[in-house]
Amino acid sequence: MYKNIPEFEVLPQHVGFIMDGNGRWAKNRGLERSAGHKEGAKTFRRICEYCADVGIKHMTFYAFSTENWSRPEKEVGALMKLFKEYLLEGEERTAENDIRQMRLKFIGEKEGLPKDLLKLIEKAEKKTAKYSKITINIALNYGGRAEITHAVKSIAAKVADGEISVDDINENLVSDNIYTAGQPDPDIIVRPSGEFRLSNFLTWQSAYSEFWFSDVLWPDFTEENVNEILSDFQKRNRRFGGV
Ligand code: IPE
Ligand code: IPE
Ligand code: MG
Repeated sequence: MYKNIPEFEVLPQHVGFIMDGNGRWAKNRGLERSAGHKEGAKTFRRICEYCADVGIKHMTFYAFSTENWSRPEKEVGALMKLFKEYLLEGEERTAENDIRQMRLKFIGEKEGLPKDLLKLIEKAEKKTAKYSKITINIALNYGGRAEITHAVKSIAAKVADGEISVDDINENLVSDNIYTAGQPDPDIIVRPSGEFRLSNFLTWQSAYSEFWFSDVLWPDFTEENVNEILSDFQKRNRRFGGV
């Protein structure tokens, strides 16, 4: 458990992280891109644990987008292997999991993911379903547009079945049919690595999110950066269209 966590008057309920810059981190060191992903995975664990200790209730980490399949086969393979290793490691950490009480949820398209990875995902979600201190959403094979398309299809199927009528379709119903159903929208979305775009992350949910950008590459991201985000968040004036 972390000690010396600064006091924050207002905490975001949900923080989204676009874990970007692993490849450049590795390149700067003359290493293979996969070495950057490996380091990025360590950062993910560290930042997760720190945010949990700070008291944030929901987090979403962008791990693999629906567009990332276009990368070289070798890199995609290395990433899938890392995801498996992360889940296998989690299985070993039973005592620690009980202390940290983190609920894991994978959001994204299941189709296309390797079968053995899917089994590990199912197992981890089942095993951590009893925890309620924090929900960690891992966006894996995730695309915001794919998610909305998915929601549209399932709503359309309900209309076709006569379960609901067209007039029952409203924003709440759409929110109830996306992967993060039941969770608050992200209050703030963090993108390191010097890029200023969402890259298909939380398209529906980010309608009123604050943004936090930084040149830091994800493997170099620190607990101190989280403190910066949270102290910046205190100064944001969220009007939601009001005055
Ligand atoms: C993010 O780091 C990790 C994934 C997209 C899986 P990148 O691999 O995109 O790193 P850069 O952007 O090339 O530095
Ligand atoms: C976004 O990063 C996806 C993840 C971090 C998983 P990318 O590196 O794929 O985004 P682009 O291609 O620079 O927009
Ligand atoms: Mg990138």
